[in-house]
Amino acid sequence: MKISISPSILSADFSDMGGAIKKLNAAGADLVHCDVMDGSFVGPITFGAQMVKNIRPLTKLPLDVHLMIEHPKTQIKFFADAGADIITVHYEACVKISDTYLEETLEMIKSFGVKCGVVVNPDTDVEKIFDVLPLCDMLLVMSVFPGYGGQKFIPTALEQIKKARAYAKTIGKGDMDIEVDGGVGVSNCRDVIEAGANVLVAGSAVFGSSDMAATIAALRG
Ligand code: DX5
Ligand code: ZN
Repeated sequence: MKISISPSILSADFSDMGGAIKKLNAAGADLVHCDVMDGSFVGPITFGAQMVKNIRPLTKLPLDVHLMIEHPKTQIKFFADAGADIITVHYEACVKISDTYLEETLEMIKSFGVKCGVVVNPDTDVEKIFDVLPLCDMLLVMSVFPGYGGQKFIPTALEQIKKARAYAKTIGKGDMDIEVDGGVGVSNCRDVIEAGANVLVAGSAVFGSSDMAATIAALRG
């Protein structure tokens, strides 16, 4: 499978986001990972749909929007209109609203012609989302607890990825995108790829590097 790298702009300098996007274009990134945090589902607040709208004209790369927010349905239209290509929502944020909220949210994302996906935290068994996997373009397995960049990779994520890839095969979606997010760098990229991930998010590894292009190339394993 092709391995794609989705650098997280959470680790960029927010006072020069345009400059960061231009660097990612030049360095060979495959997607741009946009970490949206609401100060409630996770402690910090980052940015909303306006940021996605402003970076949209600066790149042809797909914008991979990771919503770490409560009540994600309320924001889908704004991110779709802003030009998101993929929107992922947390299982944990949806399940506490109702049994059907996750499925409704995924259908809503698709209704805007945007790819959809579900995210599981490190302490959520990935099996919990298997019933909605047929609806998803992407599954995002968190390998840190969301909220901050620069955390240490939690190795149990490897088991989650393996289980998910195996299940995806059984439902005829063996080539679906499985993304991993948190603590991914040059030293562990092979492990996550071998486990079955094909989209790697990297924040501090890419933005903390003096040679972004070389780091992105190295992350492909
Ligand atoms: C964590 C975010 C991640 C984060 C990854 O809440 O979802 O995307 O920016 O950063 P690193 O790669 O530094 O762990
Ligand atoms: Zn993320």
